[in-house]
Amino acid sequence: MIRIDSVTKRYPDGTVAVDRLSLEIPDRSITVLVGPSGCGKTTTLRMINRMVEPSEGTILIDGKDSRQQPVNTLRRSMGYVIQNAGLFQHRTIVDNIATVPRMLGWGKEKARARARELMERVGLDGSLAKRYPYQLSGGQQQRVGVARALAADPPVLLMDEPFSAVDPIVRKGLQDELLRIQDELGKTIVFVTHDIDEAVKIGTMVAVMRTGGKLAQYAPPAELLSNPADAFVEDFLGTDRGIRRLSFFPSAGLRLLTAPVVAVDATAEQIAARGTAEAPYLLVTDVDGRPLGWIEPGDLTAGGVDAARLVSYGRPFVVGTDSLRAALDCAVLSPTGWAVGVDAEGRVAGVVSQQAIGEAIRKAHAEGRTDAQVAR
Ligand SMILES: Nc1ncnc2c1ncn2[C@@H]1O[C@H](COP(=O)(O)OP(=O)(O)O)[C@@H](O)[C@H]1O
Ligand SMILES: [Mg+2]
Repeated sequence: MIRIDSVTKRYPDGTVAVDRLSLEIPDRSITVLVGPSGCGKTTTLRMINRMVEPSEGTILIDGKDSRQQPVNTLRRSMGYVIQNAGLFQHRTIVDNIATVPRMLGWGKEKARARARELMERVGLDGSLAKRYPYQLSGGQQQRVGVARALAADPPVLLMDEPFSAVDPIVRKGLQDELLRIQDELGKTIVFVTHDIDEAVKIGTMVAVMRTGGKLAQYAPPAELLSNPADAFVEDFLGTDRGIRRLSFFPSAGLRLLTAPVVAVDATAEQIAARGTAEAPYLLVTDVDGRPLGWIEPGDLTAGGVDAARLVSYGRPFVVGTDSLRAALDCAVLSPTGWAVGVDAEGRVAGVVSQQAIGEAIRKAHAEGRTDAQVAR
């Protein structure tokens, strides 16, 4: 849908902000531009909706040169979200969100109804509709910014560091919300950030840019983490990229053991049968199958468990939903070195050792490499 074709931007003072950049931005997915401050991310984003005109090169929208479209038509097809939301301070929340529909000639009631619908979509309580921006938290204002950009249902969303000014916990909520909204709406999103973790989390494709407006690498996040193109990208990704890459491998393939799992109301016979389990500890569950803690086999007798002898099971991972990274984290945090896998309801599905997770990781890496080779 959007193709950036060898685009250069030279500002009047001679600064080359973007240097022969070429990118194919896939439809209905999130493409992230990431890189250090001043590397030309904002300039690139603004060239897409022609707030900045390229000095050289072409930007094609649906195969057509963006310069052939009237600039107003072009901008209406692209919602724009910026840091600190950029809301109109003298307008209520509902009227902020209704701005573009009103400009397009919608009646007041229809535009406000649409705005209220969008408030719900971005996770804002309807009771906030009549407030003014200063009466909202930073995170709430940012949600209003997203709702406003979505109001006229544009196919494209341009987002320039939209979540950079909020604290990490609020930011995580906004990222999750964006991914959820994207699942529902399937927009073509170009998202600018300087935060590589944010890029890896939300990007389908990630373009790493370096100072001087040059593209360093353009790849899906897992590929970026496994095969950084050069030392700059590797450095920018940070030290623990191997661990972070595990987020892209599902935990579903782990071989879980059920033999070491025993209910708190087990009979003496059932307990005896667990004695030969492969694990050095037994995992005790309540009668509903939820984990209570680890115990040494000799410390477990029929007729209840001595809570003082239970060892914490740490934080379980959800089998299938959580990644290998989450499973490894559970095992590392667990005093026994074993991770507890649970189903969506929190009932124990089985346990797995650090060693078994390590084997699954080696297998996933080997298969990942094969995929990358096939792709090339
Ligand atoms: N209007 C302008 N005039 C001159 N130089 C500019 C202008 N806007 C941005 N620049 C310069 O272009 C480079 C890229 O800026 P920008 O696209 O804002 O980077 P980023 O968003 O990655 O931080 C920087 O060196 C910046 O100083
Ligand atoms: Mg910028």
